[in-house]
Amino acid sequence: MRGAGPPLKGRLSPQEVIGLDILILIVENTHFSSFRELSLTKPVRAKISALGTYLPPRVLTNADLEKMVDTTNEWIMERVGIRERHIVDKGVAASDLAVAAVKKLLESHPFDLQEVDLIVVGTVTPDMMYPSTACLVQHKLGIEDTWGFDVSAGCSGFLYALNTGVKFVESGQYKKVLVIGSDVNSSMTDYTDRAVCIIFGDGAGAVLLEPAEEGELGILDHVAQIEGMGGQYLFMPGGGSLHPATHETVDQKMHCIHQDGKNVFKYAVKKMVEMTERILEKNKLTGKDIDCFIAHQANRRIITATAERLGMPLEKVIINIDRYGNTTAGTIPIAMQTALEEGRLKKGDRVLVATVGAGFTSGATLLRWAF
Ligand code: COA
Repeated sequence: MRGAGPPLKGRLSPQEVIGLDILILIVENTHFSSFRELSLTKPVRAKISALGTYLPPRVLTNADLEKMVDTTNEWIMERVGIRERHIVDKGVAASDLAVAAVKKLLESHPFDLQEVDLIVVGTVTPDMMYPSTACLVQHKLGIEDTWGFDVSAGCSGFLYALNTGVKFVESGQYKKVLVIGSDVNSSMTDYTDRAVCIIFGDGAGAVLLEPAEEGELGILDHVAQIEGMGGQYLFMPGGGSLHPATHETVDQKMHCIHQDGKNVFKYAVKKMVEMTERILEKNKLTGKDIDCFIAHQANRRIITATAERLGMPLEKVIINIDRYGNTTAGTIPIAMQTALEEGRLKKGDRVLVATVGAGFTSGATLLRWAF
């Protein structure tokens, strides 16, 4: 056998040819067996096997906002559909909400956190630029041997993190993946901008992804798309490498959410319909085949317009924006929790999840609820 050395090039000596033959034989055998192993291995499907959510206790009502900006409860309820949202106390960050959500998950589904192979966190309000929120969560939870990272996709953050986690489980190498969506929107909300401060709230949700048993339920498919032209309509310009923090960036409120509500609204309705229709067609389904529709909660009118277009009756549509506002990456798992609590989501249900967010980012996921 040849030892490790430079690659074989040009004419080979007889000794080298004999050595090479053996090598090729070994390589071929190895390839053949791993190829056979691969082709015999059944595809792994990922399932959500547990859920936990956390909302900070402090509530900011429309009545509170009426005292802060020129708005009314009637306007907010009619144009957006929000009555109240939850806001953190000073010093509470995205990793704290994420950890609290994981602890809630553990209450309903106890397991050894040391078994977690991977942590994926969707957030646009990380505790700080770095380290990642995933690192902070890992440390706070005391998980000794795992890895993880953050996903930045605005209000699509949880769905993008979920679909990333799903791919790791589908690879067959990952058995327990924690997917978390956590945002502290109040940390970047200008509470003098009435078109923005009424919309956003804070919150987090976590799910555990595991391989689904044979013939079982789980994540079936997903579609997603980014369109960067949308960056101009919803963004937070300050604090990054383009506009590092200075007195001027703070004076100009560049560390706050900047939103062109009308354009975001128009895009969100169009894209939510497009993504849901795309995944339904791809799977030869219609809105009538869906038991539970969980859409990102940004504006009640966006959700109902999409449901109407899909021919989906409102009793199949989960709406909790009235209680929590838009919690960005926290929204989808929090809406899943609402669906469970209201008895509108049960094992075996065909669920359609759809999001549109800053970026623009959009996506839809089809699954069969697994617990
Ligand atoms: N209270 C009272 N009036 C308000 C108001 C508030 N909180 N916010 C805006 N207005 C006013 C505007 O100033 C405007 O007044 P004008 O006509 O005198 O200029 C009027 O209401 C209509 O404004 P407009 O922007 O057309 O309202 P809208 O019906 O589009 O609602 C949003 C504004 C922001 C609620 C809406 O556009 C929206 O929900 N957009 C999508 C936001 C979103 O989804 N963001 C997250 C994406 S993931």
